[in-house]
This record gives sequence, structure tokens and C-alpha cells, in this order.
Amino acid sequence: MTTALTITVDQLRQLGDLLEQRCGIRVGDALHTSVEEGLARLMAKLGMSSFEEFFEQARDPEAGLRDDLVNAMVSRESWWFRDPETLTAFVTQALPECEARASQREDARVRIWSAGCSTGQEPYSLVMSLIERRREADLDPALPDSYEIVATDVSPAALFLAVAGRYGAQAIAQGLADELRERYFDQAGSTWCLADAVRQRVRFRQHNLFDPLGELAHRPFDFIFLRHVLEYFSPATQELLLANVADALPAEGLLFLGQSEELPAESVFAAVPLGDCTAYRRQP
Ligand SMILES: C[S@@+](CC[C@H](N)C(=O)[O-])C[C@H]1O[C@@H](n2cnc3c(N)ncnc32)[C@H](O)[C@@H]1O
Repeated sequence: MTTALTITVDQLRQLGDLLEQRCGIRVGDALHTSVEEGLARLMAKLGMSSFEEFFEQARDPEAGLRDDLVNAMVSRESWWFRDPETLTAFVTQALPECEARASQREDARVRIWSAGCSTGQEPYSLVMSLIERRREADLDPALPDSYEIVATDVSPAALFLAVAGRYGAQAIAQGLADELRERYFDQAGSTWCLADAVRQRVRFRQHNLFDPLGELAHRPFDFIFLRHVLEYFSPATQELLLANVADALPAEGLLFLGQSEELPAESVFAAVPLGDCTAYRRQP
């Protein structure tokens, strides 16, 4: 168990400046308690008990704490079928167009990236949406291999939970209809275990969205879901993150942000209306 930690407003501001410079993360005074909680977890992991000792190390770029800082300071809150209008527009409008294009390609693949996937609710909701669409069309519900779903996050702890596909009562209750819970999960005591037919369709890997994309950019994605991630970063940092991610999206591909999120003023993307939501394409 992590011991509670209290930092002063001055220390919060010092830490805020550091987070902005090193990771582009914005923490206002309003987030004082959640910063203290994240900091307490990180200091416990590093075996440190004083803010001063931690701050000295965190300031040193050679100490390699950047991913740890992002991991500790950014919320991992997620829920099932979040922003349902976006998922509806994706399934009913964007996907049929994409499938028509993909059928002209040699491998006919539709590639989807859940970037900042947290504990898996987003990519697994996408897989369930794809399967549900097949059920509604009276097709074999088994999702063909031509749908490739990749999910990444900076947080190893979040990915560990995502890969396991096991959720407690609180996590399972957030956004998941009873009917879908019964169809896709088995209950084992107080834990809900996701069916392999969904779990095994997502390929998870750790990746910091500011790092080079490596193999993520080898074959472009048709869709990138980057939802509720940008909001933790300053506008200048959002621009850098979006420019990085854009390398994995071809001109006809679509980016989805969280429904409450907007592009920063300068961006390589432009908004395109899609059903009841907005999607984004790379600017020519
Ligand atoms: C609030 S959750 C959103 C999860 C999911 N996309 C959703 O909309 O429900 C934000 C996630 O972004 C991840 N994240 C934040 N900064 C990141 C970065 N630089 N690289 C990769 N993941 C990052 C966090 O670890 C966290 O799991």
C-alpha cells in the first residue's frame, strides 16, 4: 500500500514546471490531490521518501524517469464504449468506406490503432463493436484476421491489466450494457474475464507517443483512436504528439479524438464531419 504524501503549493508548481518541460504535461493547482497520489505511487516504486530527493533525480534527464513521470501523472481512467457517437460513426460510416478501399488492396487489411489504450476498454470495445456489426448483418461473428487491432500505452501497469482482460465489478460496470457483459465475459467470483474471441484480437505493446513510431509506422493505419490523451498536454506538446502520430496515418485514414477534445491551433490534421461526431484527416 502507498503511503499518503503531502506537497506544498510551491512544490506542486516546481513539479508542474518540470513536468511541462520534460514531458509536456500540464498540471494546474486544481489537480493537487491527483498529483500527490501519482507522486506517492512513483516515489514508493523508486524507494524514495522525500520530495527533494525525488525532485533532484526527476530533474536529471539521464535518470530516465520520463516514462515513469507520464505514467504516474496521467489519469488511466477509461470505460467501455466511451463516446458512443464516435463509435457509431466509425462503425456505420467510416468503416464501410474503408472496407471498400481495403478490398482493392492485396492483403485487404483494415488496420486500427488504439493509442493511449489504458487498461484495454477502448480496443476491446472496438473489437466488440466489429463483432456486433457482423451479428447484426447475420454474418459469422468470428472477426476475420483481416481486421488488425493494435493498442499501445506508455504505462506497463495499464498494459498488464489490459492483456489479462480481467476486470473487477467497478471497471466492468462503466459503460458496458448487461447484454454485452453476458455475451463477452465470464464471471469468476468478483472478476469478469473477457472472452478469448475478443481478447486475442488485440495486439498490445508499450509505446510512448512522443517516441519514434518504429514498427507502428511500417504499415499505415486506417484509423487511429487517440482519445482522452491530448487533454493532459500543453498545446505545443499536443502539436508534437499529433505530428508524430500523423506518420502512421495515410491521407485517407481517420483520426478520432475524445468527443470533448479539440485540435490545438497549429496541427497537421483538419476536422471532417462524420455522422454526429468529428473525425480528423491529415492536411494535404
Ligand atoms: C485517460 S486515459 C484514456 C484511455 C482511453 N483512450 C479512453 O479514451 O478511454 C489516458 C491514457 O493515455 C496514456 N498516455 C498518456 N500519455 C501517453 C504517452 N505519452 N504515450 C502513450 N500513452 C500515454 C495514459 O497512460 C493513459 O492510459
